[in-house]
Amino acid sequence: MQRFPFLLWTLLFCLAFSTCIARQAPWVMRISCGARLNVHTAPTNTLWYKDFAYTGGIPANATRPSYISPPLKTLRYFPLSSGPNNCYNINRVPKGHYTVRVFFGLDGHRNFDNEPLFDISIEGTQIYSLKSGWTNHDDQVFTEALVFLTDGTASICFHSTGHGDPAILSIEILQMEDRAYYFGPAWVQGIILRTAARLSCGNGKPKFDVDYSGDHWGGDRFWSPIKTFGQGSDLARSTESGIKKASNAPNYYPEALYQTALVSTDTQPDLAYTMDVDPNRNYSIWLHFAEIDSSVTAAGKRVFDILINGVVAFEDVDIVKMSGDRYTALVLNTTVTVSGRILTIGLHPKEGSHAIINAIEVFEILTAESKTSLEEVRALQSLKSALSLPLRFGWNGDPCVPQEHPWNGADCHFDKTSSKWFIDGLSLDNQGLRGFLPNDISRLHHLQNINLSDNSIRGAVPPSIGTIPGLVVLDLSYNSFNGSIPESLGQLTSLRRLNLNGNSLSGRVPAALGGRLLHGASFNFTDNAGLCGIPGLRTCGPHLSAGEKIGIAFGTSVGFLLMVICSMCWWKRRQNILRAQQIAERGAPYAKARTQLSHDIQMTRHYSHGNARTAAENGPSLLS
Ligand SMILES: *[C@@H]1O[C@H](CO)[C@@H](O)[C@H](O)[C@H]1NC(C)=O
Ligand SMILES: *[C@@H]1O[C@H](CO)[C@@H](O)[C@H](O)[C@H]1NC(C)=O
Ligand SMILES: *[C@@H]1O[C@H](CO)[C@@H](O)[C@H](O)[C@H]1NC(C)=O
Ligand SMILES: *[C@@H]1O[C@H](CO)[C@@H](O)[C@H](O)[C@H]1NC(C)=O
Ligand SMILES: *[C@@H]1O[C@H](CO)[C@@H](O)[C@H](O)[C@H]1NC(C)=O
Ligand SMILES: *[C@@H]1O[C@H](CO)[C@@H](O)[C@H](O)[C@H]1NC(C)=O
Repeated sequence: MQRFPFLLWTLLFCLAFSTCIARQAPWVMRISCGARLNVHTAPTNTLWYKDFAYTGGIPANATRPSYISPPLKTLRYFPLSSGPNNCYNINRVPKGHYTVRVFFGLDGHRNFDNEPLFDISIEGTQIYSLKSGWTNHDDQVFTEALVFLTDGTASICFHSTGHGDPAILSIEILQMEDRAYYFGPAWVQGIILRTAARLSCGNGKPKFDVDYSGDHWGGDRFWSPIKTFGQGSDLARSTESGIKKASNAPNYYPEALYQTALVSTDTQPDLAYTMDVDPNRNYSIWLHFAEIDSSVTAAGKRVFDILINGVVAFEDVDIVKMSGDRYTALVLNTTVTVSGRILTIGLHPKEGSHAIINAIEVFEILTAESKTSLEEVRALQSLKSALSLPLRFGWNGDPCVPQEHPWNGADCHFDKTSSKWFIDGLSLDNQGLRGFLPNDISRLHHLQNINLSDNSIRGAVPPSIGTIPGLVVLDLSYNSFNGSIPESLGQLTSLRRLNLNGNSLSGRVPAALGGRLLHGASFNFTDNAGLCGIPGLRTCGPHLSAGEKIGIAFGTSVGFLLMVICSMCWWKRRQNILRAQQIAERGAPYAKARTQLSHDIQMTRHYSHGNARTAAENGPSLLS
């Protein structure tokens, strides 16, 4: 009786758990940029979140540049005044492997002379630069990359290049299987696959996976239609029959993808697809096949070689043999280095006179950039707000990467041992900065140079600067720093140059700094009304300890007491003299005369006082 419920519960739990695993939906975030309210789009009732909580920039009504873009009515653009780098930072993204896709937009109201051209980065890696003419090419109205998001955030940044304002229609972050598009040992979490082409051969309509009723774990891929590879060398073919093994892990391709194909003709038995690529890059190429031609009935009836830029990549491909049956999906992948600007995928028949292909995917293999140490990013953010750094500095995203678009004024250094970027210099001189310098500046532990000269920075010189071990140059000249120079600056043993001139600093220059003068480092403390204590500055007043101050207070009190006693003695003595005079009135003329004189002086004073008042009324000359 006791054991049965336990077993039952275990069974139920296991059942629930396994169905949970099997049925769990991928994590999905779709953002309609510039939207005030969440949007649902037909035909799949797809939910797009409004983006008001996410970022700066300016919302506007959108003109979609192409009929492929999702039917969204708004966009967000980033004018020059927003600064060069603008980002969407999306939080609470489960660790995993994602398709990130960004559609570009055109502002419906402003009149664009030129389409905007800008760069896009994901997690600090630049994945795409818009190419001129993109508005006229349906497959260039978006960019897409497969990335690993491992730190709980997705940072997607748009970098101005001086060619118009970046304008974004939508952002999609769609989870895929962790091992999706695994292509071999070189495939690691540090790679990013940027989609360079994704073609559905023999198909007439652009389709997303959802249009094909594909599995959500496929990342809702977009398939460009291609009716022919050119010169009428091929024919589109299609079937209504079901295709086996299409929607398999890890990529879950939609079955319908294999129901259309391009087949070569008698006049031109070879099939060749050619595309433009960037030179000297590595590409991952995925080719999709299914034998959907009813005339090919068995293995050995259609055999062909696959050549990439003329080099055989797969020999003797026999779809029926390799997939195990007709109407069964076969996926082949290979990686190639392309040195030129052209990538050609050729199919050369060996048995049977025709080649066939159902779909092609080409990815550019990128290496994810190493990011800046998180501690340093936080310190810079604290600096950004304390100094009220203007937007033009572009302090958004990662400070050092993409390397094409680092933050202005932060000098980056790559540390090979930790594979992280560090900040080794702050060059923010003469930038009209206000605000103050936070203590957090010392968290930039690798700083060697700080130049904040010629700004309007107020407040104290943070004592924590003394803990930046390798600081060589500290130039805070021509600001409004006040208070005293922190003693801690004396700990900076590498310091070669310290400019504190032109501030409102006061007090004694720390002895440890003064001593350094002897060791060849150069200092400038001039133009600080209140500094003292080294040659060239005024000498400091006596330096008193608390004990000395008590001593002086005590001495003063004693002195005052002595004075009171003396006065009393004098008064007593005078009384005695007067009494003596009264007693010996006639026999002491000297004493009387003296009293008289004293009286005369008093009279003179009274007189002189009254005269002075009159003199003041007549003119100042008499006063002296
Ligand atoms: C966008 O269009 C709507 C009408 O469709 C209009 O009310 C709104 O003001 C427009 N917004 C902008 C920023 O132009
Ligand atoms: C891609 O090809 C490699 C061999 O070149 C293979 O190990 C890998 O499993 C293939 N990937 C997929 C997802 O089929
Ligand atoms: C391409 O891959 C090879 C190794 O297969 C590597 O040595 C090379 O650096 C890669 N090139 C680029 C541009 O990533
Ligand atoms: C700091 O920048 C100013 C220019 O604003 C320059 O004159 C000065 O030499 C720099 N300081 C150092 C120590 O290089
Ligand atoms: C420094 O200036 C700030 C105002 O900018 C003031 O609040 C502070 O008291 C001053 N500190 C000293 C030590 O004079
Ligand atoms: C120190 O700064 C003052 C201006 O505050 C300047 O006139 C002087 O030349 C500087 N001295 C040195 C040695 O750089």
